Formats: sequence, structure tokens, C-alpha cells
Amino acid sequence: MFLKQFFEPESCTYTYLIADEKNHAVIIDPVESELDIYLKMLQDYDLKLLYIFETHIHADHITAAAPLREKTQAKSVVHRNSNVTCADLLITDGCIFQLGKYSIEAIFTPGHTNACMSYYLKEENIVFTGDTLLINGCGRTDFQHGSSKQLYESIHTKIFTLPEQTIVYPAHDYHGKKFSTIKEEKEQNVRLGQGKTEAEFIDIMRNLDLPYPKKIDTALPMNQACGQKK
Ligand SMILES: [Fe+2]
Repeated sequence: MFLKQFFEPESCTYTYLIADEKNHAVIIDPVESELDIYLKMLQDYDLKLLYIFETHIHADHITAAAPLREKTQAKSVVHRNSNVTCADLLITDGCIFQLGKYSIEAIFTPGHTNACMSYYLKEENIVFTGDTLLINGCGRTDFQHGSSKQLYESIHTKIFTLPEQTIVYPAHDYHGKKFSTIKEEKEQNVRLGQGKTEAEFIDIMRNLDLPYPKKIDTALPMNQACGQKK
């Protein structure tokens, strides 16, 4: 399997390009400003892009979904709670996408937003967690119908139940870390690991005292339009 991790420095976003041996590919969380980099890689490796997955509707950057699907004919995929009617596929928990011999399972993991998905590649022991689970952290829960209670439940019933050696690829990292594992997060995550109870987690999230998200007012409407410029 081919896996490339891209980093967009302004929003510290990770994007992932995955391809099988027959050069079929999917991309997760592409950022508009990086479009040319993705297109060049698709061309250089002769990859056919099938799907553009969003882990959620982002508030900190604009998706490259619209221009990417225009150039490649790939289908854009979001959770149906997102109300993004311009997306090609509005999915729910348990949808499976086949990429050659690999299956990608969409796991509904609400909490950071009410439309968060993680994507699990069972054959490769990899999970793409979006902002649901970050390395030693998690996404905030105070916007976009977020819920700390739901996030705790998503993590403990859907993510921490994956095999411990599963590699965790998040949507962001602000400290230069590229991946983690389920075992490391269970043991080390200061918000969700180390045996933290739901009440402790809710308390931590309530007291984060984070600033208003800088780009939310421009990024959300754009992303609800699939990143399509008018
Ligand atoms: Fe987010």
C-alpha cells in the first residue's frame, strides 16, 4: 500500500493520500492551498483518485474537495449529519469503501462535531481519526454541535477498542508529531488516556478556555459548499 502524509503549516493539518497496487487512490482531508501538490503527486504516480473523504466539516481551513473532484472525477464523502448537500456521498456509521484488496471502514465518532468520521484500514492496522483523537489530545467540543460526553463515548467505544498496535493518523498536530498508536494514546493521552473518567474529561474540556476559532466564519460556509468558489 502507498501512503503519503502531507502537512499544511498554517492550520497544521495532515492530509493523507492512500493508493493500492492498481493505482486506485483516496485522499483524506485535502486542503485547498495544497491542491497543486496533490495533483502533481497523482500525476507523478499515475494514480486514479476515487474518493475524497472528509473526517468532518473543518473550521480552520478550506477543503480542496470541489477543485479536486472537478479535476479527477473522484466522489466527495462526508457524514450525513453535516448537511453538505453538494457532497457526492452522505454516509453513516459502518459504510465500507473498497480500495482494491483494502477495505476502508467509516466509523461515526461524534463529539468534536456532530458529523465526525474516523476511517479504519483493518488490513493495515491504521486509523485516521480526524480531530476526534489527536496525539496526546483531541479536538475541541465547544462548536459545531460538539459534545464532550459524546467525544468520550466515541473514543472509548469506537477508537480505544481497536487493536492496540493500530497506528493513529490524526488530522492535526501542533508539535511536529506524525502518528501515534492506540496503545500510546490509552497510556499517555492527558485528556482521554491514563484511565480518565468521563466526568474528568468533561471537566478538562470545560476548562480549556480556548479562543474563538479564527477562521470558522469563513471556513465553515465554504466547506459546507464543498470548498466551491462562487
Ligand atoms: Fe476540526
